[in-house]
Amino acid sequence: MDIPWWRDAVVYEIYVRSFADASGDGVGDLAGVWERLPYLRWLGVDAIWLTPFYPSPMADGGYDVADYRGVDPLFGTLADFEALVAGAHEHGLKVIVDIVPNHSSAAHPWFQAALRGEGRDRYIFRDTFNNWQSTFGGPAWTQTPDGQYYLHLFAPDQPDFNWRNPEVHREFLDILRFWLDRGVDGFRIDVAMGLYKAEGLPNVGDQSFMSVSPVWGQPEVHDVYRDWRRLLDAYPGERMAVGEVWTDSPEDLARYVRPDELHQSFNFAWLEAPWSPTAFREVIDDTLATVPFATWVLSNHDVVRHRTRYETADPGTGLARARAALLMMLALPGSAYLYQGEELGLPEVTDLPAEARQDPVFFQSQRTLPGRDGCRVPIPWTVDPPSHGFSPGGVEPWLPQPATFAELSVEKQEGDTDSTLEFYRQALARRRDLAESIPYTLEWLDSPEGALFFTRGPLTCAINCGPRPVELPAHDAVLLSSGPLKRGLLPPDAAVWLRHDS
Ligand code: NOJ
Repeated sequence: MDIPWWRDAVVYEIYVRSFADASGDGVGDLAGVWERLPYLRWLGVDAIWLTPFYPSPMADGGYDVADYRGVDPLFGTLADFEALVAGAHEHGLKVIVDIVPNHSSAAHPWFQAALRGEGRDRYIFRDTFNNWQSTFGGPAWTQTPDGQYYLHLFAPDQPDFNWRNPEVHREFLDILRFWLDRGVDGFRIDVAMGLYKAEGLPNVGDQSFMSVSPVWGQPEVHDVYRDWRRLLDAYPGERMAVGEVWTDSPEDLARYVRPDELHQSFNFAWLEAPWSPTAFREVIDDTLATVPFATWVLSNHDVVRHRTRYETADPGTGLARARAALLMMLALPGSAYLYQGEELGLPEVTDLPAEARQDPVFFQSQRTLPGRDGCRVPIPWTVDPPSHGFSPGGVEPWLPQPATFAELSVEKQEGDTDSTLEFYRQALARRRDLAESIPYTLEWLDSPEGALFFTRGPLTCAINCGPRPVELPAHDAVLLSSGPLKRGLLPPDAAVWLRHDS
């Protein structure tokens, strides 16, 4: 069987606003990504996923799309996008773009028309509202001047589409074609378990089975992805789709990943697992037993960076664990999604001043939740402030970078064999070398308490989540370790790749 490119791909998420600014306005852009393609190639990833760059009032960092077929001037032009796709392909990188089908921006012409009373059926307008809450806080309904309410599962500036209206289906198929015709290799589907809402919009809690949500995961959504899959399959070159699906169970997740639906779905159970061998093993076993094409992800632009999540009172633990988790993740069968900056070991920036914050979560929670800006701070490319090479000249970036970013910059880490950047690069290179020889399956080996050992053909991966050093499993050579081995033992919070020849 020919293995599709996405099955084992390492995909690098680019949060465009925060990756690299070529225009010099303090905000990342598509030309900035283009300039850094050699870096991505050097790092060794297979594909990039670009977060939304479409025209948008930026009420939710671009996840509020006003025009699905354009590029916001903040991020460049359609010509910049075309140059980026061409450049990425020249560097051997695939390009995945974000598609946001659950809601538009309130500035979208359809919603503006709806406010004037035209085509309201493209959105969800009602005379009364139910008890649904917005994911960002507060009620999910906002009243319009003429008295009706509209539904928004996120910010009020993000009205939900009515997927029971066939016009919405036609429109999105056309949007997908627009980007497929421009050479994109795939789509990341935002809020993929949203789109449909239960008929009659019953209150949350009115259902006889409490586990059945009237808000998420309605069965009709699968027909949408069947249509989209037919479209993707009609294009040459293995175009794919990966869903942002938040579910409670791997069985539910697997409903989206089917030969006639999505190719992949993010495996958030992996990201949510605590630092525990039992928890890791359970997620791995459940995923491999249930989901035909596995994916793994530790961080993204919506969650606290994993270095910080893994931090304990013992300084240094977060980074050690983050490096170990990466090695384990890259040894698992399936595809891995990295988030920009994790290769530098960036922590969450927790002390951003309130006046700098932009995430609607901060504002809709009445400033009680910090929101997601702390994982979106612009990337430090060089040692020197004011922007650490993020913007040209003396421009300040849209979110302030802490002084600690100098030491974590690409410039500082490149060429330093002990750095996290060089560690990522080595891990990705070894993974590439091993790709041909390792099977998609995984076998567990006996392991001491606190540790996990598994093997895939010639590769054995060992991770030590416990408090004491452990003996390594049998091997012929050490390929790579996330930290120094001590007298041949694997220390706590470390992982290693071993080769065995028999
Ligand atoms: C998920 C995106 O990743 C997040 O950033 C966004 O706020 C919501 N969907 C709403 O579009």
